[in-house]
Amino acid sequence: TWTAANIADALVEQVREQVGDGRAICGLSGGVDSAVAAALVQRAIGDRLTCVFVDHGLLRAGEREQVQQDFVAATGARLVTVDAVDTFLRELDGVSDPETKRKIIGREFIRSFEGAVSAELGDSAAQGESIDFLVQGTLYPDVVESGGGSGTANIKSHHNVGGLPEDLQFSLVEPLRLLFKDEVRAVGRELGLPEEIVARQPFPGPGLAIRIIGSVTPDRLATLRHADAIAREELTMAGLDSQIWQCPVVLLADVRSVGVQGDGRTYGHPIVLRPVSSEDAMTADWTRLPYDVLERISTRVTNEVREVNRVVLDVTSKPPGTIEWE
Ligand code: XMP
Repeated sequence: TWTAANIADALVEQVREQVGDGRAICGLSGGVDSAVAAALVQRAIGDRLTCVFVDHGLLRAGEREQVQQDFVAATGARLVTVDAVDTFLRELDGVSDPETKRKIIGREFIRSFEGAVSAELGDSAAQGESIDFLVQGTLYPDVVESGGGSGTANIKSHHNVGGLPEDLQFSLVEPLRLLFKDEVRAVGRELGLPEEIVARQPFPGPGLAIRIIGSVTPDRLATLRHADAIAREELTMAGLDSQIWQCPVVLLADVRSVGVQGDGRTYGHPIVLRPVSSEDAMTADWTRLPYDVLERISTRVTNEVREVNRVVLDVTSKPPGTIEWE
């Protein structure tokens, strides 16, 4: 019978069979999928797994801490953190085109990841061992939407953290390949991951970069991070986390609108709230959030985030809209 415990046990066993007494490496994104995949593999092979977390500077508030503290505390996994913030921001400087952003982030991610992997390979080699396996948190919908499954066209070049560097000869370990998000969450709970990680909204590999419409700068990131933290806090306090799949907050950095605050004219940026309900992100409906919650988010964001003077709501389903704006 289908229970999270049965699935977790079966997947752990499967990983043990695949990896044997080999060593594996796993890129953590801060998201649910890579966290659950890593926790499964950790359960299967213990310290023979090394987790690598690349901080690309495009994360939401508190995410790095969540990986470095909460994930490690829950799993006991060995974690290497790469601070690549400056490199990513430099490479993204002046870039507005969504696919170009994705390509740069994908490329730089692999570079940073590879650097950390090479260091680990060196360490293992010194101990007479090799690392042969790369763990990825690929889910069933990723397989399908990236064109790897039933022939769906590639809509966006999905960049998944831990993307396989072509000249590194690893076998892939993808324990979540046949699961949907809610199943992954159930397995994560079964493995003892904290609710803050398990219940997290999906977050794309390219991070906040694809939620800034326009080029990515440190100031724009700080603005979006602040607005996003407020929206998430209000949604959580209203008890709405289980009703929404995710609620991207998008900064229209290249748009300005006139406003008034106190006695003064403002000329700031709008943010867009994009709350969606979905089973698997392949289709989605816009979530009918209660007006009082929308009002609290709007009031707080326009009061607390200096650069934002307008909050708008995206009421487009997928299709025709995608969930992310880029
Ligand atoms: P879209 O915007 O295509 O998003 O409707 C579907 C789901 O995928 C997430 N997403 C990504 N995830 N790398 C990822 O790992 C990506 O490049 C990427 N782009 C979108 C998005 O947040 C949503 O959950």
